[in-house]
Amino acid sequence: MRSHYCGQINASHIDQEVELCGWVHRRRDHGGVIFIDLRDREGLIQVVYDPDLAETFAMAEQVRNEFVLRIKGRVRARPEGTVNSDLPTGEVEVLGLHLEVLNKADTPPFQLEEHEKASDEIRLRYRYIDLRRPEMLARIRTRSNVTRILRDYLDTEGFLDIETPMLTKATPEGARDYLVPSRTHPGNFFALPQSPQLFKQLLMMSGVDRYYQIVRCFRDEDLRADRQPEFTQVDIETSFMNEDKLMSMMEEMIRRLFKEILDVDMENPFPQMTYEEAMRRYGSDKPDLRIPLELIDVADLMDDVEFKVFAGPAQDPNGRVVALRMPNGCKLSRKDIDGYTKFVSIYGARGLAYIKVNEIAQGREGLQSPILKFLPDSAVEGILKRTGAEDGDLIFFGADKAKVVNEAMGALRVKLGQDAGLVEEGWRPLWVIDFPMFEWDDGNKRWNSLHHPFTAPKEEHLELLESDPGACNSRAYDMVLNGVELGGGSARIYRSEIQQKVFKMLGISEQEAEEKFGFLLTALRYGCPPHGGLAFGLDRLVMLLTGATSIREVMAFPKTQSAACLLTSAPSEAGAAQLQELSLRIRKPQVEQ
Ligand code: AMO
Ligand code: AMP
Repeated sequence: MRSHYCGQINASHIDQEVELCGWVHRRRDHGGVIFIDLRDREGLIQVVYDPDLAETFAMAEQVRNEFVLRIKGRVRARPEGTVNSDLPTGEVEVLGLHLEVLNKADTPPFQLEEHEKASDEIRLRYRYIDLRRPEMLARIRTRSNVTRILRDYLDTEGFLDIETPMLTKATPEGARDYLVPSRTHPGNFFALPQSPQLFKQLLMMSGVDRYYQIVRCFRDEDLRADRQPEFTQVDIETSFMNEDKLMSMMEEMIRRLFKEILDVDMENPFPQMTYEEAMRRYGSDKPDLRIPLELIDVADLMDDVEFKVFAGPAQDPNGRVVALRMPNGCKLSRKDIDGYTKFVSIYGARGLAYIKVNEIAQGREGLQSPILKFLPDSAVEGILKRTGAEDGDLIFFGADKAKVVNEAMGALRVKLGQDAGLVEEGWRPLWVIDFPMFEWDDGNKRWNSLHHPFTAPKEEHLELLESDPGACNSRAYDMVLNGVELGGGSARIYRSEIQQKVFKMLGISEQEAEEKFGFLLTALRYGCPPHGGLAFGLDRLVMLLTGATSIREVMAFPKTQSAACLLTSAPSEAGAAQLQELSLRIRKPQVEQ
């Protein structure tokens, strides 16, 4: 139907006859001449209709935005003074000789060029129209390039692309499962995979040695800008390879990707940081290293001060007291500080103490703070010294359980950095290593896996597994880029007795372990190689590569915050016959009066 894409026409085609297909981006009538900007995947071209071709001209008068056309015409240089340097095809235009309306279109719910005026809801409901916008298409195209480059790399390294089931048993990755009722086994359910974790481990036991899959995963969890209920992993597993080798192979893949897509040279090797150091300095296990602010422990300066807000956590083994120095922070107004106090309260902080450092040389007189009166000179001096405060700075304080302080002050660090324009340019990757095996869940009084229950403990920590689980570290690693957790993985447990011990520590009884993971425990007994791997979040990777602010922008058909598809109106009710076949009866939630 066509000889070229609209966006590919250029001066080399002058005097050639071309046939193009596409959508009417815009039609303008100018002094008896009609201009149609015709758009396809590759871009826009201006097509001009003169009145001397009466019949074609009459048709051109009828077309409206988003009509689908097929045109024939001759390429010519644009007259002097009308060249549009913003448009790749802006030096030329097509003199229209023929026009066929392949399909009419209703007036679109929003004009592409005015998409910003359209609500997110409208854009999602008419996603196929939103995807016609060049920025959207560009992101989707980058995504396709990304998977091609990753596949090329993994294929060259000898990885086999193997599919694993979507209708399966629950995989414990920490979220709720999406369940699918079975018709043939009434009352039973499949779970959609939260990840292919167990299957990829089984593939190692099959001798596959190097596996990958670009695979959809399903997690029913609270959604945020970087989380969707279905998302894509680049999932990887290898046998007989230690962590160092795997990590260097994976960072090489990411380096090549950034080189090819953005022509960026990333560090080689990526720096590594222990979980303990990341939490201590940044309050986060995915620190954004572009922000040059750090948390500084000051508990030892506070343990005998009068101010209970500080002394309490300073004396509590699970407490933490930190200072965060904001260069030139004296400029912050009372209102700004109130805003930050409110911000940290989202993370459970009960306040945000601060000291404005106006002039150090003046001693206490040079400081301004609601808590100064509670602090002895020694503590004040200690704080100034340890934070390296200078005149004009402001020091914030967080004191509470370590978890609250880390979350609140870690988030404040990022927010302050962004608000003050301190975020440095560039790409700052790192590996976070030496994660703890377990995390204490105070509400339920039990240990949870920090990664997942198949992660191996460090060999030298094996003894701690039962005696001091909180001190036992795992062989897990996360790749972090500019504050985003891009991927994570671990060396796996490959001995059945250790796997059983870990289940026991997680409070999973022998019977429950047998019911849920009996197949894995059995498989571990039939010749399991040492193995390990990781999974990258493809959506997050593409989000970073395209500068998008949410993974929704790099998915063709994403879901809303409440995990619904506005385009198809999913989820929706099932009919009575279908429910009966599935042996299901619906009990509607009570509507509150
Ligand atoms: P994990 O749960 O860390 O590990 O997931 C790996 C990566 O997947 C991405 N990701 C998500 N992306 C978008 N929306 C979500 N809801 C979402 N959840 C996770 C993140 C994350 O780093 N089986 C293990 C991997 C392994 O051990 O090999 C796993 O799934 O980028
Ligand atoms: P208060 O004595 O509760 O009025 O608190 C005095 C100052 O300490 C105020 O600036 C509070 O914002 C701050 N503050 C209170 N609790 C905390 C906390 N847990 N961490 C940091 N600062 C706090």
